[in-house]
This record gives sequence, structure tokens and C-alpha cells, in this order.
Amino acid sequence: MALIAPSVLSANFLQLSNDIKMINESQADWFHLDVMDGRFVPNISFGLPVIAAIKKEAKKVMDVHLMIEEPGKYAEEFKNAGADILSVHIEACPHLHRNLQQIKSLGMKTGVAINPHTPVQQMFDVLHDVDVVCMMSVNPGFGGQKFIEYTLEKIKQLKAEIIRRGTNTLIEIDGGVTLANAKQIIDAGADVLVAGNTVFGSENPMETIAALKKI
Ligand code: DX5
Ligand code: ZN
Repeated sequence: MALIAPSVLSANFLQLSNDIKMINESQADWFHLDVMDGRFVPNISFGLPVIAAIKKEAKKVMDVHLMIEEPGKYAEEFKNAGADILSVHIEACPHLHRNLQQIKSLGMKTGVAINPHTPVQQMFDVLHDVDVVCMMSVNPGFGGQKFIEYTLEKIKQLKAEIIRRGTNTLIEIDGGVTLANAKQIIDAGADVLVAGNTVFGSENPMETIAALKKI
């Protein structure tokens, strides 16, 4: 059974409080919070004040996915805003090891996000310092995109290396997860499913979360 992390990016921002309550009452495990800076990715989403506001109502793990340049500059502020897990993009971190030590020393779980085209082998040497790999299965920047199939192969490669090294790293799949492909993704080795459009675009988001949880 995978952990489910609804992506707040697809929530109704005018009624955010309702959607936060729905996630609290659902079988979801984490809040997935997508921060975009318009530089690392071609879109701007929300930032610190919105995350701090969500934190006041959220009763579950705050999983913050930073799609920003120079994430180290803001790590402490995201901790103060309420992040429990902080994921930085490997492509935005020339000194990834340093970023991971910083996140740990601030008392958060470490996350490394990786774009679809980036070989997963690039993070093998730091795996013992990584709590969560946020494996992108779409190009980051937008919700509602189509799942990129070859990501399944990357999940398998990463899972094998995690087992080989004996780390406790979780594999989180982010982008294009649906009720139709979730089983395949879990079978490949994923531990956490992010779902934006599949949850919030459905008639009954709470039931959709329950359905994902059952897979
Ligand atoms: C994309 C974000 C995702 C996004 C997923 O850049 O990182 O978390 O919200 O949305 P869906 O599930 O709709 O692909
Ligand atoms: Zn994300």
C-alpha cells in the first residue's frame, strides 16, 4: 500500500481551507506542496506565506517540493513555514551534498527531486543522506500532464540501488499519476504517489484518495 500525497497545486485556491480539511479527513498521508519560481521552471505557483497558512490547518506531513534555483537560500524559511520534508532539485544543486546536510541540520527530512531526463545514477552516491526521492514523471512546472512511461524503468533502477545500499529512502512519483497507472507505478517500486489532477479533477476527491490508497 503506497502513501498518497495530494498535490495542493490542483486545489481550489479560493476555497483552500475546504480542500485542506478534505485532505485532513481523507486517507491521504502527506500534503504535497509545489513551489515554483518562474526560473527553474516556466511557471510561478505559491510560496512561503501560503505554506505557513496551510500549516495552521494541516494535520499531516508537509511535503514541500522546491522547483526553484538556489534552494539553499530559502531552506530555513521553509522550515519556519512548516515544511517537514524539503525536496530540492538535483539539477538546481551543484553542491547537493551540502544542501542535504543543511536540510538535515534544520530538522527536516531530506528530499531530492529529479527531472525525467536526468539519469538516476547521479544521486546514488548521496542516497544514504536522502529520505525521499521525488522522481518526476512529467517535466516539472504544471499539473495535469501525461505520465512519461520510461520513468518506470528509472523507478526500478533506483529501487534496486536503494536495496543494494540498504538505505531507507522512499521513492515518490510526481506527475501524471492516475487510477489507471498507479498499480504499474507501485509494482515498479514506488512508495509514495503524488496526485493533483487525478484527485482534484475528480467528482469526489475523498473517494479518489481512498481508491488510490486501496491499490
Ligand atoms: C509538477 C508538480 C506536481 C503536480 C502533479 O510540476 O511537481 O506535483 O502538481 O500534478 P498531476 O498529478 O496533476 O500531474
Ligand atoms: Zn511536485
